[in-house]
Amino acid sequence: MASLTTLVPLLLSLSLSPLLVTVNGQAQGLSYCGDAPYFPSEYTCYDGAKLCPISYGIPTLPCAADGACYHAGMYECGRNGLQLLPEASAPFTLTVQGALPRLQNQAVRACGNYLAFGAGARECTFCVNAPPQYDCKTYANHTVFLGNGEMAADVPGSQYWFVSPTDGVLKFTEGGKANNASEISLAGKGVTVYQNGFFTYDGSPFWVGCLRTLPGGTVGTTRSYRIYAPTPENLAKTNCDQIKLVASAVASRKEGTYLYQ
Ligand SMILES: *[C@@H]1O[C@H](CO)[C@@H](O)[C@H](O)[C@H]1NC(C)=O
Ligand SMILES: *[C@@H]1O[C@H](CO)[C@@H](O)[C@H](O)[C@H]1NC(C)=O
Repeated sequence: MASLTTLVPLLLSLSLSPLLVTVNGQAQGLSYCGDAPYFPSEYTCYDGAKLCPISYGIPTLPCAADGACYHAGMYECGRNGLQLLPEASAPFTLTVQGALPRLQNQAVRACGNYLAFGAGARECTFCVNAPPQYDCKTYANHTVFLGNGEMAADVPGSQYWFVSPTDGVLKFTEGGKANNASEISLAGKGVTVYQNGFFTYDGSPFWVGCLRTLPGGTVGTTRSYRIYAPTPENLAKTNCDQIKLVASAVASRKEGTYLYQ
């Protein structure tokens, strides 16, 4: 769970919307919210009166009860102000959101023990010779996660997603006989998933997406990004962008597959 001490600065920074007036006098794209000028690419005007910033490509919303702007991926606004969303209880897919268009609405896909996104990120689902109780035709073959650290996989022993303790990369276990007990013990550790909301690590509602390069290849040619926890080392990396991961509930684990390869 995110602690209150990490939430308070977030709320404060979101309420600083009048800062935008200092943008250097460019008339182009400038709109007015009441008397306040703003760039629609950076802010949203609510009821002609309240500006809320767009953060990671996601518009934040005003909460009448306490005057703050908030991310609907982490909070709900009630009569008494903001409250954290409940944690995810249903299986979910993950979608990347970020400030740049190439980072927006990208599905997170499982392949080769890594979770990745981008045009070159493959989804490697597998169902051949499954035990008779598993009918391959019944799977939708998407990359689906469960809040407890499991992948929506039916292979005996299942499969699990985890943050690698060595470099913070987001991975999944191999499954079947190759499932690795020390990796399974890390399943879901450090991550809080909000229902139809953010997939967060250690109280931070963002991750680091790093363009992957094949050995001997040119940076960026794979157009596939791996996903890293926002540790100081990962935040300092080049060829990386800060992203948010948004969970969307799906009907059942059958939206997943028998085995992720
Ligand atoms: C999912 O993959 C299995 C095995 O390849 C296949 O039989 C099934 O039709 C696929 N499901 C969909 C919705 O394509
Ligand atoms: C299990 O996973 C850990 C961490 O990824 C790795 O260091 C170790 O070699 C793996 N063990 C086996 C038996 O594959």
